[in-house]
Amino acid sequence: MIFEATPASGPLRGTIRVPGDKSISHRAVFFAAMADGTSRLTGVLDSADVRSTLKAVEDLGAVVEVVSEREDGLDVSVTGWGMRGPHAPARALDCGNSGTTARLLMGVLAPWPMMVTLDGDTSLRKRPMRRVTDPLTAMGAHFATTEQHLPIVVEGASLRALRYESPVASAQVKTAVLIAGLGAQGVTTVIEPAPSRDHTERLLPAFGVGVGRDMEALSCWVSGPASLTASDVAVPADPSSAAFIVGAAVTVPGSRVTLRDVDLNPTRTGFVRVLERMGARVECFVERAAGAEPTGRIVAGYSEGLHGTVVRADEAPSLIDEVPLLAAVACSAQGVTRFEGVVELRVKESDRLTAVADALTHMGATVRCGDDWLEVEGPAILRGARLSSLGDHRLAMALAVAALRADAPVQIALWEAVDVSYPAFERDLASLRH
Ligand code: S3P
Repeated sequence: MIFEATPASGPLRGTIRVPGDKSISHRAVFFAAMADGTSRLTGVLDSADVRSTLKAVEDLGAVVEVVSEREDGLDVSVTGWGMRGPHAPARALDCGNSGTTARLLMGVLAPWPMMVTLDGDTSLRKRPMRRVTDPLTAMGAHFATTEQHLPIVVEGASLRALRYESPVASAQVKTAVLIAGLGAQGVTTVIEPAPSRDHTERLLPAFGVGVGRDMEALSCWVSGPASLTASDVAVPADPSSAAFIVGAAVTVPGSRVTLRDVDLNPTRTGFVRVLERMGARVECFVERAAGAEPTGRIVAGYSEGLHGTVVRADEAPSLIDEVPLLAAVACSAQGVTRFEGVVELRVKESDRLTAVADALTHMGATVRCGDDWLEVEGPAILRGARLSSLGDHRLAMALAVAALRADAPVQIALWEAVDVSYPAFERDLASLRH
């Protein structure tokens, strides 16, 4: 589907709640499926990625009932397989476009003695899985794969605990190893090179499992064997989805928007800190805790005089999903905005470094990229263009934000990719237009 993203004809104003957080939704569904008893999950993101996780746990024997499908997300009841364990599904589990589904499933399945095939779409079939299969193999699980890509057959086994120094700052790797560690005898520890999002560490205790943490040493651990007990989870709104609306507000003259009930976990709000450094009028107000997640409002307004900044490698994990959006905003900033240590973008839903650089260059921006860096030199006069999302949801939305200040509409092919994380993006953006 081709979406015509039109330039802003006036300010963006109003208050909205973007959909539920994708990372927390996946984790809540997986932990509920692994637990004994029935969990009630509210505000679960209704998107293609989370539907892949719901379907996968159902195929493995969890009882999933979608109680209601409201504007602010799914209300789902999940009765887990608990101590009995999952059962072998009749077919391969289709993880769709979702890296989180595939990688977390490997950790979920690792302790159970059965063979399960994981598969995904053409994008997911290209993404690296060795980062997860390596540590899980060291724990005793087996993986049959060609070239370390999906489809992969997981064969679980009796696991050994592991002390794992991960070469990548990846919350998916950390989570897969920790949840496999729940099925191993002893203490399983993950040490990261930089702090990745910590939703697993915050959410597991709600399911009755303690997680040890040493923030300075960037390490966390679980003691196995441990079993999960059902819990109720209210999923806050997704800061990564909010970021697109924030980026739109700071670049469209006269705008002022409020995003309600957003997860304000500092491992996710790196984009706000970068925007502040660029001179943007954006503020976070923590109002309450949703479980162990701080949540509240983000207020963003049009910001004249934005200027470039350097985003350091150590900041990258806290804003990795927001780089396409920040690059779009950087087109409105004076001078160079440079992102360092962002090689991980090459293995996301698309090669986001090349994809962002190509698309914004087509719109008239000056963008350079290297192996692990990206530079945008602004301000740019952005033109209308015919572009493609390349099937990447975050690229699609970042381009729609850039289009708001282009001199003509931008056609974005494969627009339906937004269904992966933010199906209502177009409607939410339209609701703020005045
Ligand atoms: C996610 C972690 C991040 C992020 C992805 C979701 C998660 O990837 O990019 O969109 O839910 O754990 P990493 O595993 O590379 O940190």
